Amino acid sequence: MSLVYLNGQFLPLEDARIPVTDRGFIFGDGVYEVIPVYGRHPLALERHLDRLDHSLSGIRMENPLPRSAWRSLIAELVQHEPDNNQTLYIQLTRGSAPREHAFPREVTPTLFAMAKPLVPPPAHWLHEGVQAITHADFRWLQCDLKTTALLANVLLRQKAADQGAAECILLRDGYLTEGAASNVLVVVDGVLLSPPENHLILSGITLSLVMELARQYQVPVEERPVTESGLRRAEEIMLTSSVREIIPVTRLDNQPVGNGKPGPVFTRLQSLYQGIKYA
Ligand code: PDD
Repeated sequence: MSLVYLNGQFLPLEDARIPVTDRGFIFGDGVYEVIPVYGRHPLALERHLDRLDHSLSGIRMENPLPRSAWRSLIAELVQHEPDNNQTLYIQLTRGSAPREHAFPREVTPTLFAMAKPLVPPPAHWLHEGVQAITHADFRWLQCDLKTTALLANVLLRQKAADQGAAECILLRDGYLTEGAASNVLVVVDGVLLSPPENHLILSGITLSLVMELARQYQVPVEERPVTESGLRRAEEIMLTSSVREIIPVTRLDNQPVGNGKPGPVFTRLQSLYQGIKYA
């Protein structure tokens, strides 16, 4: 039977309860991770746990568990879930305390984790590509932290959904940052470009895997700023995330991207990525 983990216990989802004074609920004061699991093996687990450490230190929270305890917790969670391919969700909040913005003096963090079946992106997304819209990136300036305070991302993704698009691609001061819940890669003049890793984007684990594959298989890559005009004249645009893997964008703001079909760089990277999922 599928069980979730809450503060030291494995229990059915419906029995998992936290106080309404939890700072995750009141302030969005927490961080999270989403880890894909293929054939019961979490993909790039150590990178996800490293990023969790980065997010925790960014919000000045100590990691309550040593790495070995994380590994066992995750292994147990994965065993409880009937499906072999899963999406793992981990969330830590600063804990429950009377409502006061500054950190409480003594507080026990809330640790929640669950696994659910991984739903692959629909096949026609891969064959035909998806639509995306662009929007000004109105998020804060610490987007490298994977925090649960996702209201801006929620609003931006909803803007895309309202227009029947799969993602909202964000522009800040004339430059591409990322998607509402994905990283964005573009191909301009045959070179695969990724915006530099900094505080304006999440260091995506899927992105890091895809960039490594590109380098390993001689796809020309560069990590450098991408202007709005670069984005708009890109031959290919693709999105990466742990949940959606790699998705080609074939229409941007109702204009075709390149020839309006998934391009050769996407096709190559997509097949290489499929090869590492179960490795
Ligand atoms: N989000 N950028 C943002 C803002 C994201 O929310 C995500 C993923 C990514 C891609 O990161 P990764 O490849 O490590 O999944 C980039 C997850 C899937 C989510 O919030 O559900």
